[in-house]
Amino acid sequence: MEDQFKKILSHAKEYGFVYPSSEIYEGLSAVYDYGPMGVELKNNIKNYWWKSMVQMHDNIVGIDAAIFMHPKTWKASGHVDAFNDPMIDNKDSNKRYRADVLVEEELAKTEGKIDKEVRKAQKRFGDDFDENQFRATNPRVLRYQEKIDAHQNQLNEAMKSNNMEGLKQLIIDLDITCPVSGSRNWTDVRQFNLMFSTQLGNIAGEESSLYLRPETAQGIFVNFLNVQKTTRQKIPFGIAQIGKAFRNEIVARQFIFRMREFEQMEMQYFIKPGTEMDWYEYWKETRLKWHKSLGTSSEHLRFHKHENLAHYANAAADIEYKFPFGFKELEGIHSRTDFDLGSHQKLSGKKLQYFDPEINESYVPYVLETSIGCDRMFLAMMSESLQEEKVPDSKGNETERTVMKLHPSLAPVKAAILPLVKNKEPLTNRARKIFDDLKLEFQCQYDEKDAIGRRYRRQDAIGTPYCITVDFETLEEDDKVTLRDRDSLGQRRITVEEAKAIVLKETNVSRIL
Ligand code: GAP
Repeated sequence: MEDQFKKILSHAKEYGFVYPSSEIYEGLSAVYDYGPMGVELKNNIKNYWWKSMVQMHDNIVGIDAAIFMHPKTWKASGHVDAFNDPMIDNKDSNKRYRADVLVEEELAKTEGKIDKEVRKAQKRFGDDFDENQFRATNPRVLRYQEKIDAHQNQLNEAMKSNNMEGLKQLIIDLDITCPVSGSRNWTDVRQFNLMFSTQLGNIAGEESSLYLRPETAQGIFVNFLNVQKTTRQKIPFGIAQIGKAFRNEIVARQFIFRMREFEQMEMQYFIKPGTEMDWYEYWKETRLKWHKSLGTSSEHLRFHKHENLAHYANAAADIEYKFPFGFKELEGIHSRTDFDLGSHQKLSGKKLQYFDPEINESYVPYVLETSIGCDRMFLAMMSESLQEEKVPDSKGNETERTVMKLHPSLAPVKAAILPLVKNKEPLTNRARKIFDDLKLEFQCQYDEKDAIGRRYRRQDAIGTPYCITVDFETLEEDDKVTLRDRDSLGQRRITVEEAKAIVLKETNVSRIL
């Protein structure tokens, strides 16, 4: 798993997907830049999300709100008072940690011990092995599980009741040591607000404190009435948005999984109070289907129900993806009640209500939210698609290739146009003309450097679903080219027009909408 993660990191840099930010100055912690391939993949992810959420629903509309918002927004939303993470420092290494994460990682170690027992038993019993029965009856596994459950409950209780002493006690009870110094010399646990703040204006006395938004959702809430009135939508209806969010994360590790500047794709679905549990189930299933539609293995996706609910939610679940470092949150589905609209209504003094013609009554709508991190989705897609496999070369000998088996609609480049040899007129001229024609339809790359086999490998490595090879027969015989399929490695001799039609059809996002 660790090896796979290292491969993703180096592949992302080598092929222009993701670079560390300001690398010439040694980088900036938990901030990353997307390179030429990365920006294409990210845009394709956003495009698919936007089309499936906005274009495919006549009752969901989009907005693009500003990152800066009136400071009162964050008071009303609860972020000023409650958007905190518990932090703890180790006095010997001076390293800072999230106290709850230290505990969770310790519990994950015990889960690892259970998995080891299961694997050992699996080996011993072979085909007769019943994993469920083993987990339910093996005394050692039961002891480990009991310990995990007890400590997980203590953690949940401490987090729910803001009990920082309780959290520290748990760290002491679990005998957690600092991964750097190895010591147990901990400070007390303190709450740390995750919002970045800055100043508006430069005239003395007129400055006011601003926050960089920690979620895009609030831009939707404050625009609820504007949108409802201008679009005349009836409940239930949704507002969707893609945009940057900022969090001063205490622990920012795992590459683009947890960043300080990241992008969210959020949708708030405004509903009648009392219907939220039905919509909660509906959106959980709809969003899970969305992930599967991109070819993500069902075994790599699961729901995780929240025990510690955020200050605004009455039910919440994550869609978790099995990243190379384990199952982690990819998307959140939250039933946010009328918390946000109600709080904004109270603090602003402006009515944020909907007149429901069906019951002849006004009310503050409830909200069902789907919120997915674009960068996490990007990492999930890299993790899912990056593979090393043995394939036959042109002489039939076995060779290894690195390939990104991305869904064709997400691939940064849809087709590569490759003249068989370089600098050979009129061959290269013909290939260029084909490139100039096809680039009007989809993202193409023209490449004539190196032997054809190496060029195929380069395209495999960035996930290009099709290569179109132009050879001398193309000039002589009916304008035919060779279309090579990334996954099957099958090659077809067809006309340029036929190749164009296949690439257009197979890479078009409408195929999976
Ligand atoms: N509006 C609800 C909300 O913001 P969240 O669970 O805090 O909920 C939603 O965030 C999604 O945003 C997460 O599921 C995750 O994909 C992404 N996300 C959150 N913090 C992130 C970070 N520091 N870096 C990258 N993505 C992040």
